Amino acid sequence: MARLVLVGLPGTGKSSLAHHLAPLLGVEALDTDDVVRERTGRDVAQWIREEGEPAFRLVEAEALEWALARDAVVATGGGVVTHERSRHLLAGQPVVWLDAAPDDLVERVDSGDRPLLGGDVAERLGRLYGERRALYAAVSTWRLSASRTLDDLGREVLNVVRSERAVHRVELAERGYDVVVSRGARHQLAGLVARRSPAARQVVVVTTKNLRTQPWWDIEAGLASHVIEVPDGEAAKSLSSLERLCESFAALGMSRRDVVVAVGGGAVCDLAGFAAAVYLRGVAVVHVATTLLAQVDAAIGGKTAVDLAAGKNLVGAFHQPLGVLCDLDVLETLPEREWRSGWGEVAKCALLERRTDLSREQVASLVNLAVALKARIVSSDEREGGERALLNYGHTLAHAIEAIALERDPDELRHGEAVGVGLAFATRLAVRLGRLEEGRIGEVDRYLESFGLSSALGSFSTDAVVDFMTRDKKAHHDLTFVLDGPRGVEVVAGVDPAVVAATIESMKGER
Ligand SMILES: NC(=O)c1ccc[n+]([C@@H]2O[C@H](COP(=O)([O-])OP(=O)(O)OC[C@H]3O[C@@H](n4cnc5c(N)ncnc54)[C@H](O)[C@@H]3O)[C@@H](O)[C@H]2O)c1
Repeated sequence: MARLVLVGLPGTGKSSLAHHLAPLLGVEALDTDDVVRERTGRDVAQWIREEGEPAFRLVEAEALEWALARDAVVATGGGVVTHERSRHLLAGQPVVWLDAAPDDLVERVDSGDRPLLGGDVAERLGRLYGERRALYAAVSTWRLSASRTLDDLGREVLNVVRSERAVHRVELAERGYDVVVSRGARHQLAGLVARRSPAARQVVVVTTKNLRTQPWWDIEAGLASHVIEVPDGEAAKSLSSLERLCESFAALGMSRRDVVVAVGGGAVCDLAGFAAAVYLRGVAVVHVATTLLAQVDAAIGGKTAVDLAAGKNLVGAFHQPLGVLCDLDVLETLPEREWRSGWGEVAKCALLERRTDLSREQVASLVNLAVALKARIVSSDEREGGERALLNYGHTLAHAIEAIALERDPDELRHGEAVGVGLAFATRLAVRLGRLEEGRIGEVDRYLESFGLSSALGSFSTDAVVDFMTRDKKAHHDLTFVLDGPRGVEVVAGVDPAVVAATIESMKGER
């Protein structure tokens, strides 16, 4: 199998890039045009003039097959994707689509013998782009902009190619999808949309102003796209934002075949996912998750919602995405507090999986651990009828203190920080109920601390917390917790309110 294949319009620099990258990867550079000449004694222009384009595409496909069997960086001819056999050969190969606007390429197309670019080059390039764009997208693993220096482009290609790529499958029959975790995963968007939604004519990207100013912002879906900005953070999750977003979809003439792409944290994914669930009774959505919390939790599993004055996430729907892209590169701009918020969910997953050997330096491993767990649980229990409830480990108390804190200061407690306290509480409650040894409290506290998470319960009225937990929509008017114990972590219903209150009180005495 080839190490890397480059596709794209003439002038995008495929050959130069292949020669630039091959020595860096320690392999040879091959150009399918050269392979055709060497194998047949005729060059591309001769083939097209003497035998016609269809005959050339056939020998080109043979040359491609020969090249793909080598450990090489393979630069392909611009029209290789127009031939079905070549597209078939490219399926499953690591393919980079070098993309550029046709106008940017006019100057870059060399003046060699190019029978398919005769006449007005700008007009021909524009037409070829229109005809081939969807084909490039469909065969591509990554789409990268060719409009930059060879060095910059080379660095970016090496970053995506060398990054370990994990693909986790959410198995839900025809609604199943992949969650990709890697550096540069955002560049897989065009390929994902082209393959999962081939009839789409446009993509509507939902994001925030803040995210569009990030240095990594180069989101391209390979189709006509529009970007809609929504408010940042929890403010996005309101019925009025939902209404504005759906009005924007309508103004853009979005059809059932088109695709919504959420680029953001959990708030953007929740809002855009819910809008996609209800607009035209359901359009497709892809999540490009940009916070740790969204990558390990919010973007996976199809739960979408907005808030009401009466509480968070009270109006929503289950709507599974076409795919989820978790790009580890974009986390580099994440503020410290948002990291901490994500670590709460990650620590929960590590505790559920009994994998407390991993430390916060091992970001990729931890994201993969959490994504794998969530994908597995959602696959077996999409609607939270059973095992999915285990993902609420630490959440009964977390939801209560989050809601109470929200009323006094929206900035007091991030979700993951609340989950950290919730995990500390669940451990103490399990010890009090005789399910765990006392020593487990210190172990869990130290593990949480290694992620910068505090086990300390802030200033909360015990009655208010117990009251909230009793009314928790998942508790069915009974005190239900997910607790560790001799049989592992499980759902425990009917816990005595006095024991719960005593546990909360005991945490107040702690520093
Ligand atoms: N649907 C679910 O299953 C599910 C699960 C858990 C949480 N949630 C929801 O997720 C929401 C919280 O999500 P969140 O913690 O991701 O917060 P968020 O979406 O509010 O994002 C937090 C902040 O980080 C910024 N940001 C995002 N990505 C960034 C990046 N790469 N670089 C720099 N800044 C970046 C955002 O602009 C925002 O200001 C809550 O509304 C919660 O209810 C949903």
